[in-house]
Order: sequence, then structure tokens, then C-alpha cells
Amino acid sequence: MVRLVVENEAIYPEKAVLVGVHVRGSHPLLSMHESLDELELLAKTAGIEIVGRSTQNLQEIDPSTYIGSGKVQEIIELLKETSAKIVIFDDELSPRHQRDLSEIFGNSIKLLDRSALILDVFAQHASTREGALQVELAQYEYRLPRLTRQWTHLARQGGGGVARGGNGGVGLRGPGETQLEVDKREIKQKIKKLKEDLDQVRRHRSKQRTQRRKSGIPVVALVGYTNAGKSTLLNTITQANVYVADQLFATLDPTTRKLALPSGREILMTDTVGFIQKLPTTLVAAFRATLEEISEASLILHVVDVSHPHALAHIEAVEDTLAEIDVPPVPRLLVWNKMDRWRGDVPSIPNSQDYADQVQISARANTGIEKLLTSIEAALTAYLRAVRFVIPHDRGDLVASIYDLAHVLERVDCEQGVVLTAQVSLSVYNRYKRFALREE
Ligand code: GTP
Repeated sequence: MVRLVVENEAIYPEKAVLVGVHVRGSHPLLSMHESLDELELLAKTAGIEIVGRSTQNLQEIDPSTYIGSGKVQEIIELLKETSAKIVIFDDELSPRHQRDLSEIFGNSIKLLDRSALILDVFAQHASTREGALQVELAQYEYRLPRLTRQWTHLARQGGGGVARGGNGGVGLRGPGETQLEVDKREIKQKIKKLKEDLDQVRRHRSKQRTQRRKSGIPVVALVGYTNAGKSTLLNTITQANVYVADQLFATLDPTTRKLALPSGREILMTDTVGFIQKLPTTLVAAFRATLEEISEASLILHVVDVSHPHALAHIEAVEDTLAEIDVPPVPRLLVWNKMDRWRGDVPSIPNSQDYADQVQISARANTGIEKLLTSIEAALTAYLRAVRFVIPHDRGDLVASIYDLAHVLERVDCEQGVVLTAQVSLSVYNRYKRFALREE
């Protein structure tokens, strides 16, 4: 586990005030208060105690202070009354907002936004090297444009943080460089190094993926809003020892387990990172490689906490994020989890046609699991097909790709080309269908 934001460690036991804004005419997934409830849970996960809230309806965001100046004064009063030392905005603040607000609040108040908080919670929970590197990269990229002289000064007092150079020391100033420029240079170097390290880790992971593809065992990816119960489901199904906690983002790294369906057919089930509305863009970018695992799955299980009052908004947020990372049309099952806490029918969703089936389970009480496994089997049978491809002799690249992406059952070299019979997922089939001869 990497703890990057060292200066935050010192303030975490402290109290915070949340700030929520509704901009007239906007239509967010969650209402301002619902979103603040979620922010409070995130703050608690990071160990911060929430002692007050301040909200405002705005015609438009103030380019300097985000909220109105009267509201800023009100928050300063609230901070005094509650002895809180942290202000957390529910939306991502621009570098200018951050700078102007920090000047008004002064050095003794720490200013955070939802993105910074999510990044820190991610940093706490990253348990593999790739996860830790990805979060560290996202944190540096988030911080770089927000670096101010005041901030770097604070970070140094805290004994570390992203303003510190890769060697852990204060960088030497080049001719004519300000301290801020030195800090920026150091961060850019650190970002470059992190990207190189990540490349290395990813090359290794990509080898593992190729091995998996060659094995021909279909991969089923679990996706869902944070806390939906993905890890619990993986545990229940495989009795795997995946970390389960009633916290946001307990799982940051995909964990893959092999299991057998009722027919005896084997699948690999992989748990992925939990989603949340307003996921910081630097984080989505940093996690893109991990999330790509979802794109390559033969089937996606979208796990939803049916008992959550905003279950439908959660479904939409997950679908939005999947669209953002360009997940191809992999077949999906909607898994209504926590049915032990739900009476009556499940809600109806607007785009139910996007799901091959809907299944109701309780991962914790171990109910509905057999039906789920049967639905997985049916979906895989419908979507995984054995196809015969005829690849022209001069397209050795395509032959290699099919070997990489699919389970090749037979290869025959003949006059027209290389004839490959392979078991492929729908997405792979669509990519190479112009070479397909006929389905088996
Ligand atoms: P992230 O790591 O944040 O993505 O969460 P996750 O989707 O992996 O959720 P996880 O499995 O960690 O479960 C979150 C909480 O929900 C835990 O407290 C679980 O015990 C609880 N939970 C999971 N499944 C059920 C269920 O079927 N019923 C009930 N009542 N609680 C459940």
C-alpha cells in the first residue's frame, strides 16, 4: 500500500465541513443532498469526521471562488463554530478555484474536493503494485496543475507528499528557476518514471492475459457501483479469499478465480474496481488498462445493490463509466444483489434490452447463486461460438491475433489460406467476421 498524500495523514483524524452545489438547469445523477451523503461515506472511509454541511443553489459557478462570496464567509463561520480544519467540495475544483479559495481560507484550513478524496481512498486500498502505481500516477497528474507555492510549502512541512522529489529530497534549483518550477519539474520526472514502471507491469499482465485467452476459458467480469457486493459474490461463488469490507472501494485490483458451471464447464471470474459517480478523470485514465480487462471479458455481470435507495442512479453511473472507457458490446447480465434486504419486485430499468438476463441473488445469504450460474452458462453458450476463419496466407498478423484472442481448436493450411477453427467471443467474432467461413 502506498500512502502518497502524507500531509493528509496528519489531518485525517480531524473534522470536516462538506460543500454541495446545485447549478440550476443541470441534471445530475444524484440530487445535491444524495451526493453529499455519498461524499460523507467517502470521507468516513478516509477516516474524516463530518461535522457540518453547506449547500447552495447557483445560477452558475463562480470562476474564482466556485460558490458565492457570502457563502464562503458562512463556511468560515461554520469552520470556527465546529473547529473543523478541512473543507471538502463535492465537485472537482479547478486549479484556479483551488488557489483562490485557499487564499481566502488561509493556511490553517485544508481544502479538498471529491476527486482528491477518491484518489486518497484509492491510495489506501491499492493492494497490488499495478494498482498502487496507477493511483500514484493519477494523484500526481491531479496535483500538477494545482501546485502552488503555498501548497508545496505545506507538503514539505508534512514531511513528504507529491511535492517531494523522487529521491525523497528537495530538488536543486536550476539557474533562474523558482521553487515552484523545481517542484513541477520533479513531479513531471516522477510521472515519467511511473509511466515507465506501469508499462513494465502491464507487459507482464498482458502476457498473463494472452495465456488466459489461449486456455480458451471464458472470462466473466464483475462490475458494479462501489459496495454493490462484487467481492462478496466472488467469495460466495468460489469460496475465494477476497477481501470484503463494508467500505467504499475495498477492491481496487482485479482478482481472478477459476470456477465450474453446472455443466462442468470452467470459467474465470474476475472482480474489478468499484465505480462511483464523478470518478476523477485522471483516475479513469490511470485505470484504463485495468478496466480494459472488462472489454476483453466474454460476459459482464453488472452487480447492483437492490436495497440502495439510488440503485437506478448507480446502474446509470456504471453504464456511463463503461461507455467512457469504450467497452464494446460484451453481453451483460444484471445481478440484483442483497435481495435478503429487499421486499417486493425489483425496480424496472429503462434499458433492460441491453441485458441478456436479470438474476436476483443474495451474495451474503448465498441465495439465487444456482440460478445465476445457469444464466451465466446460457449467456456464454449463446455468445461464445466456434467459428471457422479462412485467413489469406499473406496475413500472418491476423493468424497471430486470432491465436492471441481466441481458443484455437484446429488449424489447417490449405491453398486458399490458413483455416482456423476457434472458439470466440462476440466481440472477437465481430472484429474478424469478414474472414469467417461458417459457424460450427
Ligand atoms: P468495492 O470494493 O467498493 O467495489 O465493493 P464490492 O462491490 O466488492 O462490495 P463488497 O463485496 O465489499 O460488499 C460491500 C458490503 O455489502 C459488505 O458489507 C458486504 O457484507 C455487504 N453485502 C454484500 N452482499 C450482500 C448481500 O447479499 N446482502 C447483504 N445484506 N449485504 C451484502
